[in-house]
Parts: sequence; C-alpha cells; structure tokens
Amino acid sequence: MKILVTGGAGFIGSHTIVELHEAGMEPVIVDNLVNADREVLHRLEKITGKETVFYEADIRDREKMEEIFSREKPDAVIHFAGLKAVGESVAKPWEYYENNISGTLILLDVMKKHDCKKLIFSSSATVYGDPAFVPITEDCPKGVCTNPYGWTKSMLEQVLTDIQKADETWSIVILRYFNPIGAHKSGLIGENPNGIPNNLMPYITQVAVGKLKELHVFGNDYDTPDGTGVRDYIHVVDLAKGHVSALRKIEEGNGLFIYNLGTGVGYSVLDIVRNFEEATGKTIPYVIDPRRPGDIAACYASPEKAKKELSWEAKYGIRDMCADAWNWQSSNPNGYR
Ligand code: NAD
Ligand code: UD1
Repeated sequence: MKILVTGGAGFIGSHTIVELHEAGMEPVIVDNLVNADREVLHRLEKITGKETVFYEADIRDREKMEEIFSREKPDAVIHFAGLKAVGESVAKPWEYYENNISGTLILLDVMKKHDCKKLIFSSSATVYGDPAFVPITEDCPKGVCTNPYGWTKSMLEQVLTDIQKADETWSIVILRYFNPIGAHKSGLIGENPNGIPNNLMPYITQVAVGKLKELHVFGNDYDTPDGTGVRDYIHVVDLAKGHVSALRKIEEGNGLFIYNLGTGVGYSVLDIVRNFEEATGKTIPYVIDPRRPGDIAACYASPEKAKKELSWEAKYGIRDMCADAWNWQSSNPNGYR
C-alpha cells in the first residue's frame, strides 16, 4: 500500500514513516520543511535501512500536488502537514487559517480528482475545549477553542464530516491526539521545536541539557491532586503505530471514524518532573508561575474506542517517554543541526 504522508518530515510524521516501513507499506513524504529539517531523511534511512521518497512541496501548491499524485498514485493519505504553535496562531490567525484550512481543501480536491479517497487526519484533543467530562470519550461534545490553531482542527473536522456525508465513497479517520512526547529509541529522530519550547516535555529536556535555567510551572491552584495541570501524555511511537492501525480501518470500508489516541492516564506537571528525574537522574529546578491563559485543569482520554475498533492501545509508560525524550535531546542538543 502506497501512503502519501503530508508533513512526514515533522515530529509525528517522521515517527510514522518508521512504522509504515516496518508494516511493509510504501510511504512517500510531502513536506515544505517550514518546521522540519532535511536531515531527518538521512536519520530515517539509518533507522529503516530504506530510502523514503521525498517531495519538498507545499500542499497549497495545487499544480505540484497534481504532479505528485499523477506520478505516485497513492492508495491513501496521512495528513500531518499544518502549523501547530498555539501562541503564534493567536498572533497570526490568517496564516494559520490559510495554511491549515486552504492547504487541506486543496489536498482534498486533488485527492478527489485522482480518486484517492482514503484519508487519516491529525486532529487534537484541543477540539474538546474545556472538556465536559474526563476521561474524554469521542462523544464528548466539542468545545470552544481558545486559539485559532484549535479552531483550524475543529473546523477541518467539520469539513471532513460534511465531505464524507456528501460522498460516501470517502473513508476518513480523524485521530484526536492527546499529548505526544518521547522519541524513537534510537535517539536519531525526535521533537525539534524552534526557539523556546511552548510544550512541557521539550522545555524540561532543555532545562536538563542546560539550555534553559528552570522550568516555569504554570499554576498550582487547579482542581487537581497536586494543583498543577493534568494531561494524557502518549509516547510518539505508540501514536505513530495508531496510524498503521487506522490505515487497516480505512481499508475495511467507507465512512467517517473518530478516535482518541491517548493512554487514559493523566499525569500532573509535577508528576512529569518527578518521573523525568527518576528516569534520567537529572534534576529539574522549577518555579511556580501564574496560570497560562487558555490552559485547562485536566484533559485525559478514554482510549476504549480505539482499543475496541482499531485493536490499538498505547504500550509505553511515562518512564519510557521521559527516558526516550532525554535520549533524543542529550544526543542532539541542537536538534538536527
Ligand atoms: P510538526 O510541525 O513537527 O510537523 C508538521 C509538518 O508539516 C512539518 O514538517 C512542516 O514542515 C509541515 N508543513 C506545515 N505546513 C505545510 C504545508 N503547507 N505544506 C507542506 N508541509 C507543511 O508537527 P507535529 O507535532 O508532527 O504535528 C503533526 C500534526 O499533528 C499537525 O497537524 C499537528 O497540528 C497535529 N497535532 C500535533 C500535536 C502535538 O502535540 N505535537 C497534538 C495534536 C495534533
Ligand atoms: C498545548 C496546546 C494545545 C495543543 C497541545 C499539543 C495551549 C494552551 N494548548 O496543550 O492546543 O494541542 O499543546 O501541542 O498551548 N506547562 C508548564 N510549563 C511549561 C509548559 C507547560 O507548566 O513550560 C504545563 C501546562 O500548563 C499544562 C501541561 O504543562 O498543564 C502541558 O502543557 P503543554 O505541553 O503545553 O500541552 P497542553 O497545554 O496540553
């Protein structure tokens, strides 16, 4: 099965490429490298022993996308490409709506023209807003997003739902990721944020490697066991494997399917600090800061639907996630450079 992977050079995309090769599939990457480094391709070859076909292209470039689809004739698409920095999306909403929404609309149109109607879409737990209940099941109502990035995911879910309703020959899986962290065991690929990280784990690993002085814990007065925010952290390799399971699902028949990809376990910020220290032997100094605007107290998945319908469940625990994130950061203190 040939799979066109948009954004395949990025954090989750690159880990998914490894799993696709492992499953005997033939991935083709389309990425404009706006948030990725070409070096990832060499690293992927080292891990898999295989060369992955790569197109440096923007999904908004319709002509180029037509060319790629004509040449490659993919059986399905996994669509990771998009901008994802929450704070930046507040400052540059037009750029986020244009890249994520226009890009996806062009991709869908090219797919339709080439009669490729199998799609896996990267969504996020952010579409639940401040969730009505935890653990969050897929029928939990979608909520009010606090930023344009979140709205692009929520709106694109609606676009995909409507398109599948109008033409039932589409087979679409929407995956709502919880908090992906960790890295491939080899330490050759991992998360490579630009500038000061916004997310917790890359911030912690940069404190551990000495690039940042201390962690700022955003609030310790939430209604959670220790007052700090609780999230469902999932190993990126488990998440990547979830896409292979989802591909099997779209092969079974047409429809629109939505799954949470999480572990079902919530950890607080201080739990993560403790587990990281225990897994790595590094000390993480921290200070308590005020709450970060837009943050919620607790967000964790019910992973039951994915378990039942995709025969997929997360295998790695929090210690592996911390150890693997550290292995990547300590062997690549400057990312791919
Ligand atoms: P990432 O930034 O590492 O990967 C996205 C890739 O898409 C990058 O390689 C980037 O260069 C590419 N890209 C962006 N716009 C493009 C365009 N117009 N044309 C071609 N390529 C383009 O991000 P990631 O963490 O791997 O996330 C992958 C997907 O999962 C994104 O859609 C993201 O919104 C979603 N997601 C991520 C998280 C997370 O915490 N990392 C959580 C939920 C959902
Ligand atoms: C953030 C995004 C969300 C996105 C998700 C995955 C916001 C408001 N939300 O979610 O839209 O889908 O990333 O990319 O940005 N924390 C600290 N100190 C830090 C960083 C984080 O205490 O330096 C805390 C946060 O308050 C939170 C937890 O750690 O309680 C996890 O934060 P983060 O990694 O940013 O993920 P989310 O907030 O879940």
